[in-house]
Amino acid sequence: MRNSLSRGSLIARRRCGKWPRELTQFLQLGNLFSSSDGCNGRMRRNISHLCFLPLLVAFTFDAASQDTQPQPAPQVSYVDASHSTLRLNVDGRQYLVDVATGTVRPANAGAQPPLQNGADVFNKRCAGCHGADGRGIVSTGTPNFTSRDLQAKLTDRQIAETIRNGRSGRMPAFGTKLDDQQISALTAYIREFSSSSSTASNVQPTTNSGIYQPGDDVLFTLPTGRPVDEHAVIVNFSHRFAYDSAVSGPARGAELFGLDNFAISSFGLRYGVTERLSVDVWRSPSFIGRPIQLMAAYNIFDEHHENPFNLTLRVSVEGQDNFRKNYTENLEAVFSRSLTSHAQIYFVPTASFNDRRLVQGSLVSDQIPDEPGINAFSLGTGVAVDIRPTVALLAEVIPTVVGGSELGIHRPAFSFAIQKKLYRHAFTFGLTTSPGTTVSQRAGTNATFLNNPSADTPAGLFLGFDLTRRIY
Ligand code: HEC
Repeated sequence: MRNSLSRGSLIARRRCGKWPRELTQFLQLGNLFSSSDGCNGRMRRNISHLCFLPLLVAFTFDAASQDTQPQPAPQVSYVDASHSTLRLNVDGRQYLVDVATGTVRPANAGAQPPLQNGADVFNKRCAGCHGADGRGIVSTGTPNFTSRDLQAKLTDRQIAETIRNGRSGRMPAFGTKLDDQQISALTAYIREFSSSSSTASNVQPTTNSGIYQPGDDVLFTLPTGRPVDEHAVIVNFSHRFAYDSAVSGPARGAELFGLDNFAISSFGLRYGVTERLSVDVWRSPSFIGRPIQLMAAYNIFDEHHENPFNLTLRVSVEGQDNFRKNYTENLEAVFSRSLTSHAQIYFVPTASFNDRRLVQGSLVSDQIPDEPGINAFSLGTGVAVDIRPTVALLAEVIPTVVGGSELGIHRPAFSFAIQKKLYRHAFTFGLTTSPGTTVSQRAGTNATFLNNPSADTPAGLFLGFDLTRRIY
């Protein structure tokens, strides 16, 4: 009896932003009989008659059932935005308590109880990221709602605010999609997670734990192989300020780390055909041969499916001058393995057939140089480490082990970057020696591109950034 009433009263408190402790205490039986100051002072004048009604109803129905079976918790919640009507759910029956007029009447049989409503909305809108059991999904970075510590830290108001306005870019805002009634039902439902699993507070989320979540389709240029949701559309965008080193020469003074010079800006779209198969189109500008790259990627192994590592196979064709000449065909195997949920290593053996020496293109289409095709093989290696929940440090190096000298590659391309991961979005800022962002071009360096032999050393590092955004 006491337990069930307490639970009911907790729910009442959770929804009674304006009536905090007094109402709660008053609704708790122990307090009712042991404490005389349940509703006192100004509060007493305002709400004593309001407090009584739900209590009496709850008491009446509970007392009426004398059997020893545990009863379902009475549930109290607001019905409308005016906060004058409470809905009381006792043993499956519902009553509307109008605290303004002091009346109690059976609720419309068809009306949905708020907690049921909260569960429905949660399962439809939230469970994908938070887990149907509310325990959170490590790869999504969602908190464990069954944790008592978390529940203790959060106020109802904070929960409602988070639902309304979103949070740190990773939790979407629902203020325009859900009405007040749904948001308060969700708030109550989230509170239920703590009471429903009293032993769960120390239990780690069981799904996906220890698996890293890459923020982008690439580290800086090397692919992460991350699969994409079915029917998702992702926009990728990259800039390489390749014409000046960021750390030597005029970039340190006149040209602001090379940002004043031209940038090679490439742009691509990726589409999830199924959960494992995606297709991708990518285009780089005239300065770098005007290639269009068409790709299909298939995710074979995934740590989320209990495999010891991730493996994605990618096949692609690049054609320069907007896919009109100088075709290169690529085959890549993207292996990755999570070290913890905070770090992942990558290994990307890549065969490029008819690879081309990375030289500057021309704004005039028929002056894009026709370099001979050379078969090449590279072994890209990279690492991503989260230094904060949404910030990663990245490093990659792409040695060309076959065909390097014919392609003028004397030192491997390498990059360092820092990445901010947001909800469906990442921004990566870094330094690299390679101006190329297609599969075959990424192993080439500025040494051939600028015809400057030292541009592939650390002194030749230049700035660039990547943006990725899931738009659908
Ligand atoms: C796309 C994924 C996604 C969806 C959908 C989503 N959330 Fe979240 N939610 C998150 C992430 C990620 C966080 C953690 C944000 C942070 O702390 O940086 C979060 C945080 C929260 C928090 C804050 C917890 C705290 O520690 O303060 C609440 C409350 C919450 N979500 C409720 C909901 C509800 C209710 C829904 C459905 C209406 C929902 N979320 C839908 C991803 C999502």
